[in-house]
Amino acid sequence: MSKLKIAIQKKGRLSEKSLALLRECGIKISNGTSKLKANAKNFPIEVLYLRDDDIPQYVEQQVADIGILGENEVIEKNKEVDVIENLGFAGCRLSLAIPKEIDYQGLEYFRGARIATSYPNILSNFFKTNNINAAIEEISGSVEIAPSIGLADAVCDIVSTGSTLFTNGLKEVETVITSQAVLVANPNLPAEKKAILDRLLFRIRAVQRASENKYILLNAPDNALEEIKSVLPGMKSPTILPLAQEGWSSLHSVVKEDEFWDVIDQLKTLGAQGILVVPIEKMVM
Ligand code: PRP
Ligand code: ZN
Repeated sequence: MSKLKIAIQKKGRLSEKSLALLRECGIKISNGTSKLKANAKNFPIEVLYLRDDDIPQYVEQQVADIGILGENEVIEKNKEVDVIENLGFAGCRLSLAIPKEIDYQGLEYFRGARIATSYPNILSNFFKTNNINAAIEEISGSVEIAPSIGLADAVCDIVSTGSTLFTNGLKEVETVITSQAVLVANPNLPAEKKAILDRLLFRIRAVQRASENKYILLNAPDNALEEIKSVLPGMKSPTILPLAQEGWSSLHSVVKEDEFWDVIDQLKTLGAQGILVVPIEKMVM
């Protein structure tokens, strides 16, 4: 039976979280990232551990069928791959940064300057759009040290927590693009691989939905039920069970993480008591 080959980052910001996502999808991978490849025990995929920078090319060439990587690499490399899903983790930005002691007055600083980056395409587009003529020095790693060794006046690099810039005496002055982890696929997958991808996507979406929602249980006086139901839509409608105590019911429903505190406030105002909120492990629609 054929397997779907998935490329993930071997070492870096995305590796641990990419593996965690597969784990949450119930996929057991035999060995760690020490080898180049690993097989899943209970799902027809093979994992390839690669440099994230190389993943767009490998997916285009179908060395890998799909891949998890930063949107930043997808845009920079501009290969023939389809972005299938935003994965919502490894959020970051590609930013311009300069030595912290410089008094930054605006984009003019970059006119005629030398900028070290691993993202020459994205950066030159950005400068073109802003009518800036600058010299882009393409380097593949340790971009942040370029100003201190006199290679460049600025850098354009990925910033997540900001600690890499900070420890290298740099400050972020312009955001070029924002990015997050995405799932990409070769656009011409054979039908049987496409079917495996669909199964995987089904699981990924269930995991994502679960992390965006909470299960809520509460007790409410029967005379407030109608109003409480209107703030708790649930997946269909809330489950309502009578309590042993006359005139009271228990309600079970699902709320969105980002609406959560607003909903709780309204429920309390409407007389809800004993509110319990629990994480959802998987949410299948
Ligand atoms: C980026 C960037 C920095 C780091 C920034 O590398 O090059 O090294 O992340 O993160 P921080 O703001 O939290 O310190 P990336 O993970 O994209 O890997 P790379 O080595 O493939 O460029
Ligand atoms: Zn990289």
